[in-house]
Amino acid sequence: MAKKIAVFASGNGSNFQVIAEQFPVAFVFADHRDAYVLERAKNLGVKSYAFELKEFDCKEDYEAAIIDLLSKHAIDLVVLAGYMKIVGPTLLSAYEGRIINIHPAYLPEFPGAHGIEDAWQAGVDQSGVTIHWVDSGVDTGQVIKQVRVPRLADDTIETFEARIHENEYQLYPQVLESLGVGRK
Ligand code: GRF
Repeated sequence: MAKKIAVFASGNGSNFQVIAEQFPVAFVFADHRDAYVLERAKNLGVKSYAFELKEFDCKEDYEAAIIDLLSKHAIDLVVLAGYMKIVGPTLLSAYEGRIINIHPAYLPEFPGAHGIEDAWQAGVDQSGVTIHWVDSGVDTGQVIKQVRVPRLADDTIETFEARIHENEYQLYPQVLESLGVGRK
């Protein structure tokens, strides 16, 4: 049976949009009520949920609410796409091996929240995009697939960043398909 996916995002949601145009997405979850990804979901007719960590007593309760959503929708695979929180032990113990993440660098190079800027500042002549399983570390889980992305001589950080994102938009659908997620 086709795998059911949920996408988690915190802000813009361009990766979500690319995924939702090609695959059925059961719902999108945003950890900010004003995240632009919610607008995109509305326009694409994808169900969305949003709540914030600060609305709960602790991260355990916040993640328990997320687990409720995932089980209610019988989600097989959680697709993190710009979800800016570390997955905590509560969610991880319920879904480890069923959560993937996209990172805008060639891991283990440049982990963390600023993968593109860090690579740019380091003056690399290539960076990349990585999709990996989520474990308890920050961008440390087993790599599923990664691609190299060049930094060209006449790049600005904006053109470099745009090239990274273009590669993300190619790679995530390929990986979802390889993991058995059926296209629309
Ligand atoms: C992407 O670059 C992704 O790799 C990183 O956060 C960014 C999210 O962008 N984890 P968007 O919200 O999908 O536009």
